[in-house]
Amino acid sequence: MNVNILDTLERGSVFEVLVATENSGGCVNIKPFGVIYDGENFVLNLFSNESLLNVKDTGKLTIYFTDDALLFTRALIANLTADELTGSVACGVCCEVTVIGSSSVEDSIGKNTTSKIIAKPIKIKEYNKALPIINRATNHIIELLVDLSRYQYMNVHARNKFIEKILESEKTIRKTGNKKHEKAIKLIKKEINMKE
Ligand SMILES: Cc1cc2nc3c(=O)[nH]c(=O)nc-3n(C[C@H](O)[C@H](O)[C@H](O)COP(=O)(O)O)c2cc1C
Repeated sequence: MNVNILDTLERGSVFEVLVATENSGGCVNIKPFGVIYDGENFVLNLFSNESLLNVKDTGKLTIYFTDDALLFTRALIANLTADELTGSVACGVCCEVTVIGSSSVEDSIGKNTTSKIIAKPIKIKEYNKALPIINRATNHIIELLVDLSRYQYMNVHARNKFIEKILESEKTIRKTGNKKHEKAIKLIKKEINMKE
């Protein structure tokens, strides 16, 4: 098993990734999540969602590393298929889930229960070897997507602040982004019925 690429991961910080899970009927669900690598396992904290149900059902997940902002956006908003990933991700790490725990967290949205997932890497599929890129527009899109994933729980005040944040981010995206970033922000605005 080639695990060398995992040795290049910094321990303890949160990476934003795409996580693919399958339900018992074989239907694939790909969604953005934050993960931590501790040197041996990936650790995820999942709210009560479809991905968590799938993990409980199958005991498996695959973590995809990519810096493609549009892929993150489509994963959250549309139904991204596994075929669409292979051309655009750096690598996929198939994992077996060894522990599912639960704990309580409190953030700006309120109190919630999360399930801590410990996932052991068992197979790595390497795809694209691209240069590592830090792009400000990508960071803006990721921040907006995190907010968007909580939109349904926001009150009017929080929703208005989110709209302001979108308008502010758009300026940076126009200056520093590419066509994919522009497409991503369009999808985000459409999702909350915001005018162009
Ligand atoms: C960048 C990013 C990171 C996220 N991280 C998490 C996370 O760590 N845990 C979580 O439960 N949801 C996280 N979310 C929200 C989920 O992606 C979102 O709730 C999604 O709709 C869950 O889909 P599902 O019900 O199909 O599993 C994140 C969203 C984004 C955009």
